[in-house]
Amino acid sequence: MIIAIDGPAASGKGTLAKRIAAHLGFHVLDTGLLYRAVARDIEHAHFRLDDRWAALAAARNLNPATLDDPALRGVPAGDKASVIAKIPEVRAALLQYQRDFARQAPGAVLDGRDIGTVVCPNADIKIYVTATPQERARRRHLEHQARGEPATYEALLADILSRDARDSSRAIAPLAAAPDAIHIDTTTLDADAVFASAVRIISR
Ligand code: C5P
Repeated sequence: MIIAIDGPAASGKGTLAKRIAAHLGFHVLDTGLLYRAVARDIEHAHFRLDDRWAALAAARNLNPATLDDPALRGVPAGDKASVIAKIPEVRAALLQYQRDFARQAPGAVLDGRDIGTVVCPNADIKIYVTATPQERARRRHLEHQARGEPATYEALLADILSRDARDSSRAIAPLAAAPDAIHIDTTTLDADAVFASAVRIISR
């Protein structure tokens, strides 16, 4: 069984994916980490992020064991990921890994931007998670404050708006809901309520 969860940055899709996977005993993959890690590896090799060949090499050689690197968290890593995510060769190189991951027994939950549309168009369940940019920036701001990291609400909102624009407007695999995805607007919902509505969708 494959559950695809897509949505923009800070919509709550990652938290939801982990909770569903824990609930069902499924594997879970945060596919944003793959793009974040490719950007990290390009920079470690001292290439520019828009160098297609360096990007392709980094994507082909990506070691999934390095995805728990704390340096992949945070705003700069997300911005860099969305720059290299526009490169078709990078997306193609990461596709098979994601599809193989999705096929694992007893099931898998993948979250990202193109899981229901490109990676797993035949997923059993597709959920598209949204929230207003202002609410997403508010959540990010609370997370930053809790970690003691300096970032203003305005800067986080600006980052969310520019990442939304980049992810939605790119030519290949843009951020989009699959036609058969069920939408959950999390703007006024807490994590428990989002999880409860996803469980209702899955048990239907
Ligand atoms: O989800 P996360 O914020 O970690 O993703 C970082 C960036 O990676 C996104 O802004 C997007 O550009 C890219 N991404 C993607 N396709 C995915 C997951 C992430 O293009 N399936």
